[in-house]
Amino acid sequence: MLEHCQGLPLAIVVLGAILAMKKTLEEWQTVNDNICAYLGRGMAHGQSYRRVYDVLAMSYYDLPYHLKPCFLHLGNFPEDYEIDTKKLYRMWIAEGIVAASSERTLRQSSLEEEAEYCLNELVQKRMVQVGKVGLKGKIKTCHLHDMIRDVCLEIGKVENFMCVIDLNQINQDEPPPVLNERLRRLAIYVGEEADASLLDSSFEKAPNIRSLLLFPNQECKQEHYGWMRSVCNEFELLRVLDLNGFNIEGSLPKEIGNLIYLKFLSLNQTRVTKVPASIGYLSCLETLDLRVFGVVVMLPNVFWKLRRLKHLYFPSRILSQEVDTKQGYMIKRGEMMRLDGLQYLETLKNIDIDRVEVKGLLGLKNMRRLTASCVSKKGNLDPFLKSLSIKRLSLKSLKIDGSIVSENPMILSSCQPLHSLDIDNKICGSLHFEMFPENLVYIGLWYCNVENDPMPVFEWLPRLKNLSLHICYRGNEMECSAGGFPQLTYLAIDGLFWLHEWKVGPGALAKLESMEIYNSPIRVLPNALPSCVKIVCNPCVKGIEKYNSCLYYKGQFE
Ligand SMILES: *[C@@H]1O[C@H](CO)[C@@H](O)[C@H](O)[C@H]1NC(C)=O
Ligand SMILES: *[C@@H]1O[C@H](CO)[C@@H](O)[C@H](O)[C@H]1NC(C)=O
Repeated sequence: MLEHCQGLPLAIVVLGAILAMKKTLEEWQTVNDNICAYLGRGMAHGQSYRRVYDVLAMSYYDLPYHLKPCFLHLGNFPEDYEIDTKKLYRMWIAEGIVAASSERTLRQSSLEEEAEYCLNELVQKRMVQVGKVGLKGKIKTCHLHDMIRDVCLEIGKVENFMCVIDLNQINQDEPPPVLNERLRRLAIYVGEEADASLLDSSFEKAPNIRSLLLFPNQECKQEHYGWMRSVCNEFELLRVLDLNGFNIEGSLPKEIGNLIYLKFLSLNQTRVTKVPASIGYLSCLETLDLRVFGVVVMLPNVFWKLRRLKHLYFPSRILSQEVDTKQGYMIKRGEMMRLDGLQYLETLKNIDIDRVEVKGLLGLKNMRRLTASCVSKKGNLDPFLKSLSIKRLSLKSLKIDGSIVSENPMILSSCQPLHSLDIDNKICGSLHFEMFPENLVYIGLWYCNVENDPMPVFEWLPRLKNLSLHICYRGNEMECSAGGFPQLTYLAIDGLFWLHEWKVGPGALAKLESMEIYNSPIRVLPNALPSCVKIVCNPCVKGIEKYNSCLYYKGQFE
């Protein structure tokens, strides 16, 4: 078998993964027969590329039935693209690529778990490469090896599984591929100069598309508004529409309401400023991602009609009064956002407590990931936080305005489920340990202008891993006591313009792994920091020599 692979690592690894699953002599014999047949063809081409190709193609044909579409679907994504697995699973589910038919799903595991299981199987078979891995060992991003992707695309084309159009390569000499009625999936790569109107006329030839994914590159400057309308008119059977980063500004066309079968819609990183009320017709939607970028989007108050919604993402709000970029969302003046009755909702990101009907929100029994923000002092937050624990809902992350804390310093103290907290803008008065709930893992302070040294306030939070301090303290001194910050792995100190002296007691910050110090005139780094910490500082701080990992370190002081 090794000989067949001619020393090509990718082929060896993939073939090895096939053999590792085969337990009997007969199974090995079958692989041997297959490989001879496949590689026989490779020999005729006489090229090592073709040889690897054949081994890889064989590994595709060796996949169990349920994994084949999962694998082919990955061919939609551009070369070297890091695929966000959470998004991938939701697309698979929306398209029915992963369905509730296997033994496992009958045993009550969720579809998302099933999708995760399928991806893991593909990884075991070395067909998919793992990118980032989360704290609990889950795969966060993945990608295909270039050559495996070539195989994937070729088979995908033969089986009419999907069509990938790279607009950057289409010009006079190379006309766009001809679409056909049997085609179900289309991925379009849109580049800087790409003229999307080239495609307009071919859309009507493929009325049965179920999935349309767009991959704009960063410099894509064209205005694609009109194009969006023809997508809504031509592809009425769409299940999945991913506009991630696509250059549409202004209102989303109201024809979006024609796509009544849509289960997955993402406007992530687009600059859409208005979503029409017709989105309320999309009653099959399961995932709706409205995280526009750098704009404030006007939203209709119709989300409560989308009864099948499981994951709803609003744009995160850039709260600070000190920065220029405005980002977030609005609804009609005087209205409160209704979300009542969304009984399947599991993920709700960036909900604004000031502008939502709290009673409806608290009735959502399946909520697992809730993140919220609150800016005004109107007093919604307190009753909301109090009812959370009664209803046993968990709030993962909260962003609030400093004025709320100034007004009601103990407001967060009993919010046990809270993991992650950002406070933005001025807090009047001083901070105390008792104000913060003990399960916090992350705290960010932005432009808070706190009077007292923040270190003693946070150093005994038993689970705190990440502390980010940005322009939030005017004092000259900071001190961490011995043994403080037992779990902290990351610390950012940015824009503490008056800070000269930073003392660290023995054994403090014992688990610190990395640290960033910007724009803070600390005279010398404390001696007691753990020696393996990765420190980046600008301008440089004396003592950095010991940690010579700093990008900006020039080896000179004075
Ligand atoms: C949203 O878009 C950004 C930038 O393109 C990307 O990094 C991120 O992974 C996207 N998130 C999702 C869930 O699509
Ligand atoms: C800590 O939090 C900041 C702000 O959210 C984030 O940018 C950073 O990546 C986090 N660091 C770690 C190590 O989690």
